[in-house]
Amino acid sequence: MHPARKPVMAGNWKMHKGIHETGGFVRELVHGLKAHQSPVTAEVVIAPVFTALAVALQAVWGSPIKVAAQNCHWEEAGAFTGEISAAMLKEVGVGHVILGHSERRQYFGETDATVNGRLKAALAAHLVPIFCIGELIDQRRAGETERVLERQLTDGLAGLDAAALATLIVAYEPVWAIGTGEVATPEQAQAAHAFIRGWLEKNRGAALAGTTRLLYGGSAKPDNVAEILACPDVDGCLIGGASLKAENFLPMVEAAG
Ligand code: 13P
Repeated sequence: MHPARKPVMAGNWKMHKGIHETGGFVRELVHGLKAHQSPVTAEVVIAPVFTALAVALQAVWGSPIKVAAQNCHWEEAGAFTGEISAAMLKEVGVGHVILGHSERRQYFGETDATVNGRLKAALAAHLVPIFCIGELIDQRRAGETERVLERQLTDGLAGLDAAALATLIVAYEPVWAIGTGEVATPEQAQAAHAFIRGWLEKNRGAALAGTTRLLYGGSAKPDNVAEILACPDVDGCLIGGASLKAENFLPMVEAAG
């Protein structure tokens, strides 16, 4: 981590926890954060399912925890059954949105072009995007990791200049590490993050590259989070499984300072 960048510890709950469970769990997190001896300095974000966003927003009221959605559409409104617009998320009070998650890409036909459209809509609605990128295991084995990241960055961020991307958060999530228990080594994480920061510097300028928070995601757990966070270009984590229990998530938040 770097002192100039406030760390972000974000929990992606995926399709877990309905409104009942969310209310109780968020209150537990709020209470747990308050009980810490030293104030938590990391930005803490939770991403519940759509139906639980309002309950989560109520439960975090007065606490530093922020609420994210897990996707948004690129249009403001229209005949798009099952979708939700960035403005609708903004209206409910959400501040962040996860975009381009590998599960969206893998199971729901998300492409770099659709992620780009969603990113533009999110930024236009003043939502903070958590833009996910990462390579498949075959791509890593074939030595294509950087080429894949470069394509996802180039196409995903197309048409967005440094000013538009001022609030951007990027999550590097190697697909082979998501939900598998297999975590990238600190060397692998640092190398990918340095590549992403280098790409931002080359293509959007040193100022944006210096301030953009880069999160690591993929089997981050209480027992490996410290070594991941020790990497100079890792500015936090996007946490799946381990964010679903306070006893795992809270120590990880604390590890970020
Ligand atoms: P896990 O932490 O369960 O591997 O999930 C990572 C992830 O996909 C976060 O978006």
